[in-house]
Amino acid sequence: MTVAALGFMPDRGSDTPIFEQICTAIRSRIRSGALAPNERLPATRALATDLGVARATVVTAYEQLVAEGYLRSRRGSGYTVCTMGEVELPPGGETLPAQDLTERPPLLLEAGQPDMRLFPYRAWAKCVSRLCRTRPADMLTGCGRFGHPELRQAIASHVRDWRGLPARPEQVLVTSGATEALDICLHALATKGGAVAVENPGFPPIRRFAEAQGLRVRDLSLDAQGAEVPVVGDGSDVVVLTPSHQYPLGGAMSAGRRQSFLAWAAEARGWIVEDDYDSEFRYAGHPIPAMAGVDALGRTVYIGSFSKIFSNSLRMGYIVAPDSLVEALGAAMRAKGARASAMPQAALAEFMHQGEFYRHLRRVRRIYAERHRTLIDRLRSGFSEFGQVEDHQAGMQVVLHLRSDLNDLRLAERARALGLGVDALSSYCRGSSASSASSGSAGLNGLVLGACLNDLDEQKEALERLRRAISSTEKSPPQARILQT
Ligand SMILES: Cc1ncc(COP(=O)(O)O)c(C=O)c1O
Repeated sequence: MTVAALGFMPDRGSDTPIFEQICTAIRSRIRSGALAPNERLPATRALATDLGVARATVVTAYEQLVAEGYLRSRRGSGYTVCTMGEVELPPGGETLPAQDLTERPPLLLEAGQPDMRLFPYRAWAKCVSRLCRTRPADMLTGCGRFGHPELRQAIASHVRDWRGLPARPEQVLVTSGATEALDICLHALATKGGAVAVENPGFPPIRRFAEAQGLRVRDLSLDAQGAEVPVVGDGSDVVVLTPSHQYPLGGAMSAGRRQSFLAWAAEARGWIVEDDYDSEFRYAGHPIPAMAGVDALGRTVYIGSFSKIFSNSLRMGYIVAPDSLVEALGAAMRAKGARASAMPQAALAEFMHQGEFYRHLRRVRRIYAERHRTLIDRLRSGFSEFGQVEDHQAGMQVVLHLRSDLNDLRLAERARALGLGVDALSSYCRGSSASSASSGSAGLNGLVLGACLNDLDEQKEALERLRRAISSTEKSPPQARILQT
């Protein structure tokens, strides 16, 4: 074919590089059939002269299309168009409609969501750019098997200072979030075909991980002291707990119940996994020390997360393991292909080391404390006819326990339609703990409201919408209820 037949001139004012423009032009002509299979493309030199570009630009474009399977190159015969079977064309030769790839912003009052408007973007950017300039290799290659040494060090100091857990850096394994850490722990600690005991209500992924690993799941119901202790010999070899701040109800486990769990672990030779996902957010009194810190027998594995205190999407969490388990947990990480991204690890270590992280943590704690307190006050003053709230003075969510004739699943659905991200408490429950408001039996029936995501004006607006959602649910007849069992 001739150069003129290609019918294309590069746009020199465009931001798109010329070689990419050539690729796009040839690709679309092949797709539309304007360039037929086996047709020969203009010689690189001729096309380059015609377009007024360097020959290397045309060669780069042709080679890119060879790599994509649109062109074939043969010594002596230049570049030809591949036959249809060699090229993957979209059905009908048409391109699929473009999808919106942007992530939806969180809904009002969405639980577990930090307010990313408070993220210290400027300080973080400075820290990342300084590292790129001064220690670039460190950002990509500095991580050992268990994480970046400086981050392991920073995490060990963090849990010592903030959680009363005397940890050494060698005990720290960096993961891509607490969720992944939970999966790794189950993989390493549960025996084949054994049982894992989980809080009911609790964090739903744990159950899914256990089931995916072929483990049986035992539900631990909750009373005022915390989760019930499994009976020794019932087959449970791992329990997963949120002792500092029960998820999603919010209470702290009593000192006596913690001791009972430690006694269970000693007698049953079981393991306790302590999921301490958000306990930096205690707004009154002293922090409750981590359970792992008082376990003299080394049967508690501690899990922490940076999702709530820093960023959900940075995907950074950690395990602090008793010495005897470090290798087994490392092997489970390898077996699962689990590894946290290297790049943010060095930056986060530096950020913590410089104290910027703690400046941020203190700031958000102050702001979240006010939002948390205001949400409780507003719910108590404006929603007491619908239910009641308990103030645990901790965490990122608040539960409104609903009057028994209000159905939390229906209400959460209505609220969602009004742009609210509130969850039904019963959706975190299994079996008889799940609410059955429509059938009149006792159970957990409430709404889980995120306290931290929105400022006070947004919170006010969100609560007005919630009131509208409740009023419209009250007026409409009850429907059949779907229990999540
Ligand atoms: C109880 C509990 N554990 C763990 C996590 C997960 O944390 P990450 O984002 O670090 O995976 C959450 C997140 O909401 C949680 O509520």
